[in-house]
Amino acid sequence: MTERLSPDATGLDRAAALLRAGDLVAFPTETVYGLGGDARSDIAVARIFEAKGRPRFNPLIVHVPDIAAARALAHFDDRAERVASAFWPGPLTLVLPLRAEAGLSALVTAELTSVAIRVPAHPVAQGLLRAFGGPVAAPSANPSGRVSPTRADHVMEGLSGRIAAVVDGGASAVGLESTILGLVGAAQLLRPGGIPAEVLEECLGVPLPTGADPARPVAPGQLASHYAPGAAVRLGVTTPTPGAVWIGFGRDCAGAALNLSETADLVEAAANLFHALREADRIANDLIEVAPIPDHGLGRAINDRLRRAAAPR
Ligand code: TXA
Ligand code: MG
Repeated sequence: MTERLSPDATGLDRAAALLRAGDLVAFPTETVYGLGGDARSDIAVARIFEAKGRPRFNPLIVHVPDIAAARALAHFDDRAERVASAFWPGPLTLVLPLRAEAGLSALVTAELTSVAIRVPAHPVAQGLLRAFGGPVAAPSANPSGRVSPTRADHVMEGLSGRIAAVVDGGASAVGLESTILGLVGAAQLLRPGGIPAEVLEECLGVPLPTGADPARPVAPGQLASHYAPGAAVRLGVTTPTPGAVWIGFGRDCAGAALNLSETADLVEAAANLFHALREADRIANDLIEVAPIPDHGLGRAINDRLRRAAAPR
């Protein structure tokens, strides 16, 4: 049962407690409703992908209450300081160099060295972020491939029974996702949205070329090369090659060096995936093998990631 919470202190305390427990809470922002989870928790972030039925681990936007909290996660240069002080809180997301000590789940950034950060203006979002006291990962609160929700009822239509709660804060005023501005290297418009590009160009004093969205690479394989481990990767392996590092899934993988989930739990497997690949790469000589992962639910996103890791290069 998905709880419907009121946007008062009682509701926000309950929502913050759920987030602390690693559960998912949808909440209003001025753009659209977000599906929030603790951005430091691998399990909470894996649950976000599961609840949305996302077939891929795209990097998510991390929500914080103010620029001070944002500075703890990313490196701010002069341009970032300027646009942040002009447009935060508001419908603007900045992609900035990730701080090594940020403490975010590898699933949130999809292992990129940059992070997308947003300071929403909606008073309920602000109240929740302050009550929780940590960074909240939040894509739009709709099943993958469906329209973004601008009311608690829309969230319920798509996700009721799949998430712990929704905080009902009325209709979102902007109704369109945040503008995403990339500030790693040359400034780029990564996604048009609530703040017009012209307004950002004026603030930055440079024209904004439209950049490639890493979640939708212009050339297939662009993402794969970033994600690829050093060792070769073979998938769907039930009988491992001697000398290979075998990543198991489920109980029938005696002899596996690592196991994504001994209980065959796809949420746990997703939460462990990036760490397991790194660890396997660290201990492997030249070959990593992975047990078959069921291709449903979160298994689809896991298999998408694994296929990129195994792609010829
Ligand atoms: O208005 C919004 O931005 C809403 C509300 C809930 O805040 N959130 C939202 O999140 O639209 P989502 O997950 O649907 O969009 C995330 C976008 C994706 O297109 C992703 O590629 C991009 O942000 N993104 C995240 N991290 C990135 C990074 N490090 N570099 C480039 N793009 C990134
Ligand atoms: Mg969306």
